[in-house]
Amino acid sequence: MTVLVTGGAGFIGTNFILRWLAAGGDKVVNLDKLTYAGNRHNLSGLSADRHELVQADIGDREAVDRLLAGRRPRAVVNFAAESHVDRSIHGPADFVETNVVGTFNLLESVRGYWGTLRGEEASGFRFLHVSTDEVYGSLTPEAPAFTEDSPYAPNSPYSATKAASDHLVRAYRHTYGLPTLTTNCSNNYGPYQFPEKLVPLMILNGLEGRPLPVYGDGRQVRDWLHVHDHVRAIALVLERGRVGGTYNIGGRSEKSNLEVVLAVCRLLDELAPDEKIGPRERLVAFVADRPGHDRRYAVDFGLIASELGFEPSFDFVSGLRATVGWYLANRPWVESVTSGGYRSWIDQNYGESRGAAARAGGDAGRPGGADGEGGNVR
Ligand code: NAD
Ligand code: TYD
Repeated sequence: MTVLVTGGAGFIGTNFILRWLAAGGDKVVNLDKLTYAGNRHNLSGLSADRHELVQADIGDREAVDRLLAGRRPRAVVNFAAESHVDRSIHGPADFVETNVVGTFNLLESVRGYWGTLRGEEASGFRFLHVSTDEVYGSLTPEAPAFTEDSPYAPNSPYSATKAASDHLVRAYRHTYGLPTLTTNCSNNYGPYQFPEKLVPLMILNGLEGRPLPVYGDGRQVRDWLHVHDHVRAIALVLERGRVGGTYNIGGRSEKSNLEVVLAVCRLLDELAPDEKIGPRERLVAFVADRPGHDRRYAVDFGLIASELGFEPSFDFVSGLRATVGWYLANRPWVESVTSGGYRSWIDQNYGESRGAAARAGGDAGRPGGADGEGGNVR
């Protein structure tokens, strides 16, 4: 038996495959375009009879059709996406191409393949689509957490394209009967996360004594889940989820960005003290806000808890400590991903406008972006 994982060389896909195989799961065929966010070395320790990496685009019908017909997976787990909100603001086209058109083409290929299956192969087949809580938009401080019934109200090009992909998956279930599952998860952190996202960026900048750029006033709130808990939840949904179902996944761990950054600072001071750098808190730099910045996300994961018994195993304190420890112990990985392309992204995103705000003495600390302005803030 085989499962096809897309985007398995990225952050969450890598963690999913490592855990899946360690738990004795079926062989994984990993279809990944290997963009800047995909790293083939993450999985190079796996034996060829357990893991096969195929470099291809989910939108390439011919390649995906061939792979499905040749490997005959019992399930497809779709992680492949452009995943970084800031990049979606600088260049939304890639997000439409992969997250919308790519998911559409993948669904078409999978529908064709599923149509060739018979009996238990057909009824047991699953297409699991990995999505985000960001499709639900932004919450006010007192609003109840997102449930599976919350209306979609995406605010960034990233979340709009993920929302579109969720809708396509829903339509393929409703119209063609494809046995789909969808998961909408909160912010992940943990090993192998590309250091453009908040937690690893703060760890690496803090280690090297560079500024820790906090957007706007730093009081935006996210719910944080350790990636090991996310991939455990995905495996549960894949094996026991209700066909056609949608499951929210969260960590019961709402934190403001400033709280997250200060927690990283304290851990670095303890685990990697550096006299020349001094207390990392001094590196915090309030910079210009992200345009349209969502104020708060929070996830009610009561459904997956009651139906499938999911409960996060990490709290934020233990999960963040383990994560900082991983980055300290894996400097060669960090060096391999922070190449020229990475540095030019950092210059592009944190250069001019954001740097200017920081130099202006933190006046960018005032709330900016869509807080209360976007019409989708509940
Ligand atoms: P990532 O950016 O680290 O990895 C994405 C992977 O997809 C990379 O390996 C990349 O090479 C591959 N990819 C990109 N475009 C492709 C294409 N056209 N064809 C094939 N492969 C392609 O992302 P991640 O953080 O691991 O997120 C994985 C999924 O989980 C995404 O769908 C994302 O929306 C969702 N998600 C992420 C988070 C989070 O906090 N990171 C939270 C909830 C949901
Ligand atoms: P990010 O890791 O990009 O995830 P997302 O935008 O999908 O939630 O960002 C998490 C939060 O941290 C988000 O509110 C933006 C903020 N942030 C900063 O303040 N500074 C940074 O340098 C980055 C990358 C993010």
